[in-house]
Amino acid sequence: MLISESPAQAILNLGELLKSGSKQLEVALALDPSSARIEVQCLLQAVLCVNRAYLLTHPERILNPDELARYSELLMGRLNGEPVAYLLGQREFYGLALKVTPDTLIPRPDTELLVELALQRIPPYGATRILDMGTGSGAIAIVIADQRPDVEVVAVDASTAALKVAEENVQRLQTNNVRLMLSDWFAQLDGDRFDIIVSNPPYIEADDIHLQQGDVRFEPLRALISGSDGLDDIRRIAADAKVHLAAGGWLLLEHGYDQAERVRLLLLQAGFHKVSSVRDLAGIERVTLGQV
Ligand SMILES: C[S@@+](CC[C@H](N)C(=O)[O-])C[C@H]1O[C@@H](n2cnc3c(N)ncnc32)[C@H](O)[C@@H]1O
Repeated sequence: MLISESPAQAILNLGELLKSGSKQLEVALALDPSSARIEVQCLLQAVLCVNRAYLLTHPERILNPDELARYSELLMGRLNGEPVAYLLGQREFYGLALKVTPDTLIPRPDTELLVELALQRIPPYGATRILDMGTGSGAIAIVIADQRPDVEVVAVDASTAALKVAEENVQRLQTNNVRLMLSDWFAQLDGDRFDIIVSNPPYIEADDIHLQQGDVRFEPLRALISGSDGLDDIRRIAADAKVHLAAGGWLLLEHGYDQAERVRLLLLQAGFHKVSSVRDLAGIERVTLGQV
């Protein structure tokens, strides 16, 4: 209920909308109170084009009919399970606001670890070439290019729709050192060699029950699923990466919470050295890397 059924309370102010919206999300999506509140704040901030401080300091503010209609539409979408990032058409990643659509994965905070590890391996000087495989919205490629305007980043994806979104992000954020390419993994890269190959590929098992829950229900399956054990794409990338890496180059792969040991084995079998896995903030082995 967005507007109370009681005529005496027909118009809710900002503070009341925040409270009632949060309660509805807690019940409908089983969110904890603080997550529900943050989500409603995001929706209200987007509708009113204000920051969080404004929301907190103007609890008496009444929304005009257009604002209220837009907020109702967004809240309805969220109550139906649609991810906030798709409803608002954007998600922040590594401090950059990226356009996202249902054609792209919603970039996750976990992936910032992959970016950090890649950035740490870029030498301070000299020409460095980076390849981002399965770029989606362009998140990884754009952040690396933004942090290091001196490097050349090539970003590939097999989805033309995702690449269109990535192109918009590249244009808007003016990361002119990113080149986007349509390619089935390495297929279009011929003899190209890179100093760092980074990828957050699809890695979910085809019958994983989590695919029926939460935000992933709305995300493109091609960005999520990778065969019966979730490792089909990682197997392909690990097997083919070496011929596309310069001497001393690194391959860095994000993977699922229980896949680190198997991914390490795949990299060792493919002839990589210094193979190790790095834990994310939750203590989960999230990225595995190796050097040629
Ligand atoms: C998990 S998403 C990662 C998106 C983005 N890099 C991120 O971290 O937010 C995996 C991406 O791989 C792409 N992909 C799937 N199969 C592919 C293939 N065979 N070749 C190239 N890209 C592929 C999907 O379209 C999707 O954009």
